[in-house]
Amino acid sequence: MMGCILILVSLTLTSVSLHAKAQVIQPTFNTTTWTKPYQSLLQCLSNSTSPFITLTDPQWPTYATTFNERLQYIPAAITIPNTTEQITAAVNCARKYGIPVQAKSGGHSYASYSTGGRNGILMIDLENFNSISLNNRTGIATVGGGVRLGNLAQGIWDQGRRALGHGTCPGVGIGGHFTHGGYGYSSRAFGLALEQIVALEVVLANGSFVKVHNESLGDVYYALRGAADSFGIVTTFYLRTWMAPKVVINFSYSFPQALESVENATATFMGVQNFSLHSPVVNRNLGLGVTLGGNATSYSVHGTYFGSIGSFNKTIAPALLEAIPVPPALNESSVRPTDWITSLTMLGGEGNLTVPLHGFVQQDNFYAKSVTTNVSFAEEPIRKFFEYAYSAGKGLNAPISWFSIINLYGGPDSQIGAEGRNESWAAYAGFDDLWVVQNYGNVPLDQTFPQRGVQFLDGLNNAMTNAMNQSFNAYLNYIDPELDRDEAWHLYYGEPLFRRLKSLKRELDPGDVFWNPQSIPVWNDTWVA
Ligand SMILES: Cc1cc2nc3c(=O)[nH]c(=O)nc-3n(C[C@H](O)[C@H](O)[C@H](O)COP(=O)(O)OP(=O)(O)OC[C@H]3O[C@@H](n4cnc5c(N)ncnc54)[C@H](O)[C@@H]3O)c2cc1C
Ligand SMILES: *[C@@H]1O[C@H](CO)[C@@H](O)[C@H](O)[C@H]1NC(C)=O
Ligand SMILES: *[C@@H]1O[C@H](CO)[C@@H](O)[C@H](O)[C@H]1NC(C)=O
Ligand SMILES: *[C@@H]1O[C@H](CO)[C@@H](O)[C@H](O)[C@H]1NC(C)=O
Ligand SMILES: *[C@@H]1O[C@H](CO)[C@@H](O)[C@H](O)[C@H]1NC(C)=O
Ligand SMILES: *[C@@H]1O[C@H](CO)[C@@H](O)[C@H](O)[C@H]1NC(C)=O
Ligand SMILES: *[C@@H]1O[C@H](CO)[C@@H](O)[C@H](O)[C@H]1NC(C)=O
Ligand SMILES: *[C@@H]1O[C@H](CO)[C@@H](O)[C@H](O)[C@H]1NC(C)=O
Ligand SMILES: *[C@@H]1O[C@H](CO)[C@@H](O)[C@H](O)[C@H]1NC(C)=O
Ligand SMILES: *[C@@H]1O[C@H](CO)[C@@H](O)[C@H](O)[C@H]1NC(C)=O
Ligand SMILES: *[C@@H]1O[C@H](CO)[C@@H](O)[C@H](O)[C@H]1NC(C)=O
Ligand SMILES: *[C@@H]1O[C@H](CO)[C@@H](O)[C@H](O)[C@H]1NC(C)=O
Ligand SMILES: *[C@@H]1O[C@H](CO)[C@@H](O)[C@H](O)[C@H]1NC(C)=O
Repeated sequence: MMGCILILVSLTLTSVSLHAKAQVIQPTFNTTTWTKPYQSLLQCLSNSTSPFITLTDPQWPTYATTFNERLQYIPAAITIPNTTEQITAAVNCARKYGIPVQAKSGGHSYASYSTGGRNGILMIDLENFNSISLNNRTGIATVGGGVRLGNLAQGIWDQGRRALGHGTCPGVGIGGHFTHGGYGYSSRAFGLALEQIVALEVVLANGSFVKVHNESLGDVYYALRGAADSFGIVTTFYLRTWMAPKVVINFSYSFPQALESVENATATFMGVQNFSLHSPVVNRNLGLGVTLGGNATSYSVHGTYFGSIGSFNKTIAPALLEAIPVPPALNESSVRPTDWITSLTMLGGEGNLTVPLHGFVQQDNFYAKSVTTNVSFAEEPIRKFFEYAYSAGKGLNAPISWFSIINLYGGPDSQIGAEGRNESWAAYAGFDDLWVVQNYGNVPLDQTFPQRGVQFLDGLNNAMTNAMNQSFNAYLNYIDPELDRDEAWHLYYGEPLFRRLKSLKRELDPGDVFWNPQSIPVWNDTWVA
C-alpha cells in the first residue's frame, strides 16, 4: 500500500550480468556442474510440447528477473506455456526428475519465490495466460493466472464498470496476490482479494488439470486459497466482482507534529485507532492506513472513502481529526473526489493502470517485515515502535531508506472475514486481522543491501512485538525470506492450519513438486539443489 516503489529496468541486462549477480548470492553456483536430473529435465522438456528457455537465451533476463533485485536466482529452465497441456508436460518432466516447480505470475514475491528462492528450479511463467473476460450478467470475471492487477482492474471496468478489491500496484500479479491474501483500501468493503475467488482451474502435481470450487475437489480448492505455491499452477481464476463505486474520496492528512516526539507519534496512532474502532461513522466504505515515511520524516493518515465529498467532509473528516490530538498541516493534506478508475490509477502512481503483457520488468532492492494482530494495540508496543524509529532511523541517520505502513483490515463493518469466513473456509489464517504493519527498507539498485539494514528492520519489528502482550503473526503476501521454515509456518499459518496443509500436501503432492524455501513440506525438508 502507498505509492508503488518502481524502477523500470532497462532490458539491456545480459544473461552474463545476471549470472554474475547470482554468483554473489551463491558463490558455488555453476551450471556445468549441475547434476544429471538437470540434464534429464532439459531433455524431457525438449521432447515435450512445452516451450522453454535456458540461461543462454537472449530472452532469459526478461523472464528470470524478479521484482526484488536483492534476491535473484537462476532457474534450471523457464517454460513459457500457451496451453494447459504444456504446463502439464512441464510439471510431469519436473516431477519425474525431482526438480522443484514454481509459477511466476507478476514476479513480485518479496522473497523472489517465483524463481524458486534458490537456484535450479523449473519456473513456469504465466504471461500468456493473460485473458480477462467479464460475464456482465453474473458479474463473474474469468481471469488468466498471469494477469497483473492494473490490467485486471482496467479490464473489468472496461467490460462492465465492475471492480475488485486488491492491492494498489499495477504490476503485481494475480497469481501470488490473490492466493495469499491481497489487501487494498477497498478490502474493508469487498474483502481480501482471496475472498473474491469462487473457483480455480489448476494443474496439480500429478499432472492433472482440474476445475475446483467449494463443491468439487473442495480440499484442493481449500489449499490453493492460502498456499497455492505449494499445491499447483493456477491457470484461471473465477472471481466475483462488484459494481464500481461511483465516487471515491482519496484523502491524505499530514501530521508534522507527530514527528516531534514519541509521545505525539504514539498519541496520534492511538487516536486513529480509537476513531477506527469506536466512531459511529466508520463503516466498510472507509479504508485507511498510517504511514511513517521517508525515514520517519513524514507521518500521514490516508485512505479512501466510497461516498460523496459532502458526507466525507461532514462525517468522516471531523470525527477522524477530532480523535487525533495534533492538528494536520493543511498545506500537505488533500481530500479529492474522483471516480474508481482514476483513483486506482492515481494510487498506482504510474500514470497508467495497465502494464505491457510482455517484457515488463520492474525492480526494487529491498527487505521487509510485517506484524499482524487481531486485537487492538495497547499503547506500549506503539510507543516502543516509535522510540526505536525516532532514535535509530530518523532522516539521514537511518542506515537505509525505509518506511512503515499500518493498515486497518478489521474494525466495524469490515468485510474481511465476514460471514464467518475463517481458516476452515480457506487455508488463510488472517481473516480476523485488525491491523497489518509493514516495515520496508530499500537501497538503490546498484548498491548491496547492507546487513545493518536487515538488522534495523528486525529491530523495528521487534521493538513492537517484544512489547506486545497479545499474540501476533505475519502477513503471507509480505513473505519474509529471513525466517526459517518453522518460524514462517507459525507466523503465517499457525499450528492447526499448518497441520491440515501438511496432510493435504502428502495427499496432493507427495513428491514435493511445488517447492520453495517456505512451502508446505511433505515430511521433512529434504530437497537439495
Ligand atoms: C511493489 C509491490 C506492491 C505491493 N502492494 C501490495 C498491496 O498493496 N497489498 C498486498 O496485499 N500486497 C502487496 N504486495 C505484495 C504482493 O501481494 C505479493 O508479493 C504477491 O504474492 C505477489 O504476487 P505475484 O504474482 O506478483 O508474485 P510471484 O512472484 O509471481 O509469485 C509469488 C508466489 O506465488 C506463487 N504463484 C504465483 N502465481 C501462481 C499461480 N498462478 N499458481 C500457483 N502459485 C502461484 C509463486 O510460485 C510464488 O511462490 C506488493 C508487492 C510489491 C512488490
Ligand atoms: C564451472 O565448472 C567447470 C567444471 O568444473 C569449470 O571448468 C568452469 O570453469 C566453472 N565455471 C565457473 C564460472 O566457475
Ligand atoms: C527424449 O526422446 C529421446 C528420443 O525419443 C529418448 O531417447 C530420450 O530418452 C528422451 N528423454 C527424456 C528425458 O525423456
Ligand atoms: C504463445 O503465444 C504467444 C502470444 O500469443 C505467441 O507469440 C507465441 O508464438 C506462442 N508460442 C507458442 C510456442 O505457440
Ligand atoms: C455487457 O456485455 C455486453 C456484451 O458483451 C455489452 O454489449 C454490454 O454493453 C455490457 N454491459 C455493460 C454495462 O458494459
Ligand atoms: C490427480 O489428483 C487429483 C486430486 O487428488 C485427482 O482428482 C486426480 O484423479 C488425480 N489424477 C491422476 C491421473 O492420478
Ligand atoms: C458453495 O458456494 C455456494 C455459493 O457461494 C454456496 O451457495 C454453497 O452453500 C457453498 N457450498 C458449500 C458446501 O460450502
Ligand atoms: C490519492 O492519495 C495518494 C496518497 O495517499 C496520492 O499519492 C494520490 O496522488 C492521490 N490521488 C488523488 C486523485 O488525489
Ligand atoms: C471538503 O473539504 C476539503 C478540505 O478538507 C475542501 O477543500 C473541499 O472544498 C470540501 N468540499 C466540500 C464539497 O465541502
Ligand atoms: C506535540 O503536540 C502538541 C499538541 O499539538 C504540540 O503542542 C507540541 O508542540 C508537539 N510537540 C512536542 C515535542 O510535544
Ligand atoms: C498505458 O498502457 C497501455 C498498454 O500498456 C498503452 O497502450 C497506453 O499507451 C499507455 N497509456 C499511457 C498514457 O501511457
Ligand atoms: C534515508 O536514509 C538513507 C540512508 O541513510 C538516505 O540515503 C536517505 O536520503 C534518507 N532519506 C531521507 C528522506 O532522509
Ligand atoms: C524428520 O526429521 C526428524 C527429526 O530430524 C527425524 O526424526 C525423522 O526421522 C524425519 N522423518 C523423515 C520421514 O525423514
